[in-house]
Amino acid sequence: MTARLLKTACQQLEDFRRAGVTHLPQVELLKMPTTGVAEQFTSEKLPPVAEPPAEEKPNEIQPVSSSPETTKDVVENWEPSMEDLQPVLSLEEKQEQLAQVDCAVKGCEKCGNLASTRTQTVFGVGDPNARILFIGEAPGADEDRQGEPFVGRAGQLLTKIIEACQLKREDVYICNILKCRPPGNRNPTQDEADNCRAFLDQQIQIVNPEYIVCWGSVAAKNLLDSKLPIGRMRGKFLEYDGAKVLCTYHPSYLLRNPPAKKDVWEDMKFLFRDMGIELSS
Ligand code: URA
Repeated sequence: MTARLLKTACQQLEDFRRAGVTHLPQVELLKMPTTGVAEQFTSEKLPPVAEPPAEEKPNEIQPVSSSPETTKDVVENWEPSMEDLQPVLSLEEKQEQLAQVDCAVKGCEKCGNLASTRTQTVFGVGDPNARILFIGEAPGADEDRQGEPFVGRAGQLLTKIIEACQLKREDVYICNILKCRPPGNRNPTQDEADNCRAFLDQQIQIVNPEYIVCWGSVAAKNLLDSKLPIGRMRGKFLEYDGAKVLCTYHPSYLLRNPPAKKDVWEDMKFLFRDMGIELSS
């Protein structure tokens, strides 16, 4: 099924939902021939990230060892990791799988309160082949109205940051911890974040980015299951699902505290330097 067809089907279902239809006759479940994504929509949270050592350091990427292995050692000791074994998806396959997860999100009512107050769900936008995936907190009023993440004031600042990095919004993939707006823009509860986690993990697995940027402490703490303040998670790469994770301040915080913009700019330079791109100061 093409992504466009699936989107139309989802829209139809959403129209039924809004019209008060709660049940439809059972049809055969969607099946993906390649990775079985459809079957995992309702699955529990994926395995938790590795437990941090005594002084909490969530998945910090360690510096390269000072005693380098020879090529022979590396080749002889090489064992394929899960990442090596993951199938490489084409752009079309990624679009189709993301459309399937989006469809599941549209029909999700796990958080009754959020499902009954949302205008619509807010899934994600951008390039399914992006090298960088952005994670924010949750949709606000503007995002709830428009169905797209980061389109309000904070989103406009995020767009400026992306452009300062010589990219366009369409060059990255943008999503949130929660796909529904919490009423009054309150912080997501742990239960809400847990309910939405499988969707986020599916997005990460499908896009399979090299880098993840967590914007703000809600994104950082939830993704990495950490209690550290965001100030202590900045300035280094952490790890999640094979991606290098950079945590930085949320654009809403920058709107309230403009001097912190220079810290975010340092973080962006750090990220892009690692990607082999030198951003001018
Ligand atoms: N803040 C977020 O964290 N995400 C959005 O999509 C909008 C504002």
